[in-house]
Amino acid sequence: MVDTPARGIVPSTDVVPPVWGRITNIVVERGEGSWLITTDGERYLDYSSGIGVTNTGHAHPRVAAAVAAQAAKLLHGQQNIVYHEQGLRLYQRLQGLLPGGPWGAFLANSGAEAVEAAVKLARVATHRPVIVAFRGGFHGRTAQTMALTSAKNVYRGDFEPLPGSVYFADYPYCYRAPVAVHDPTACDAACASCAGCSCDWEGRLEELLHTLVYPEHVAAFIVEPVLGEGGYVVPPVGFLPRLREIADRHGILLIADEVQTGFGRTGRFFAVEHSGVEPDILTFAKGVASGLPLSGIIAKQEILRTWRPSAHGGTYGGNVVSCAAANATIDVIEEEGLVANAAERGAQLLAGLRALKARHRTVGDARGLGLMVALEFVKPDDGDGRVPNPEMTKAVVAEALKRKLIVLTAGSHVQVMRIIPPLVTTADEVGLALRILGESLEAAGA
Ligand SMILES: Cc1ncc(COP(=O)(O)O)c(C=O)c1O
Repeated sequence: MVDTPARGIVPSTDVVPPVWGRITNIVVERGEGSWLITTDGERYLDYSSGIGVTNTGHAHPRVAAAVAAQAAKLLHGQQNIVYHEQGLRLYQRLQGLLPGGPWGAFLANSGAEAVEAAVKLARVATHRPVIVAFRGGFHGRTAQTMALTSAKNVYRGDFEPLPGSVYFADYPYCYRAPVAVHDPTACDAACASCAGCSCDWEGRLEELLHTLVYPEHVAAFIVEPVLGEGGYVVPPVGFLPRLREIADRHGILLIADEVQTGFGRTGRFFAVEHSGVEPDILTFAKGVASGLPLSGIIAKQEILRTWRPSAHGGTYGGNVVSCAAANATIDVIEEEGLVANAAERGAQLLAGLRALKARHRTVGDARGLGLMVALEFVKPDDGDGRVPNPEMTKAVVAEALKRKLIVLTAGSHVQVMRIIPPLVTTADEVGLALRILGESLEAAGA
């Protein structure tokens, strides 16, 4: 018999397996807005948003009320068996969230499942096998999504063999361009003819399509509009429009993975809107339901119709309580002006980070889009001055945590500190975070 602890006594944290690599050891009791409150009553400013999930803040009263009301009526209404009002409302709303279309949607549970669905749909719709992903990308932890992921070896290195017919193209990472650091806007100017552009992602992609795979065998390009786990890399504005053109030239579908960038995070409802590019399939999760498990794809209706009934599905996809949370989340995002707040608070945060960069030699880059912002740490005296500095990244994140600010790391070498505030955050909270980050950089000797 399993020895269970007495009622009321919280078990030791040893019960959690080490595979959950730890960011903090805090035991949390509740959350409100941008704040997490521990069982000891300590308050932490949560600028991780549970990895970009709590866009409406922790336990937003309208979302919590919608969840409670729905939970009291029905917890599960399986999608193959019944329709439910919350799901029907959400499917309808998803059709209108992205310009262009006409769009339809499919609902699942996690980001990885949304990506799995997108890949399955792209292969069915095109009758082609190959998927081209981008270096530094992260798409999930299932077998197919690991195969698409190249952000860090730990996400896939222990799990070979992985599904094949996946190839990788270069993401335009202007700070790490082989020739020299340059501003993405400068890259855009050069990319107009792509002459002299030191990123040359396009030349490398063309080479891939000449040397490794026939373009007519490629079902889809899958791309994050801003690289997430790979280091919060904002590409030049011309990148997605040019990728769209290349895709169209070869009859290749464009999948925008907006699991991390969606639902207002970057200062537009979806990040593809910054460049006006219409993907064929868009994946979403995280911010959609304020913390309840829900994900899905938005896809062109004619593409969605190529899936025959029962070719894809799942027991829990589009759970009724999660749909209620999503409907309330979208109401809050729209009615409380959270997309505009993300743009404004993001600009405030980035301006503050740029000022910190000017004072600290180990900060190589400060970048971001909306409330998806980051500092990249380097060893300024080694190599060409861009040698990744994971030790400093971890030291600054730890100093911030000591001062009760939660931020995360990212990047292939853990050389990036990423800051993901909830979209409800205030100017005062951003000011506090910047003060703490300034102190943390000093304390870590950055
Ligand atoms: C861009 C992107 N795609 C997919 C995923 C996978 O999402 P999940 O962890 O919900 O499976 C993530 C998670 O961080 C992500 O950032």
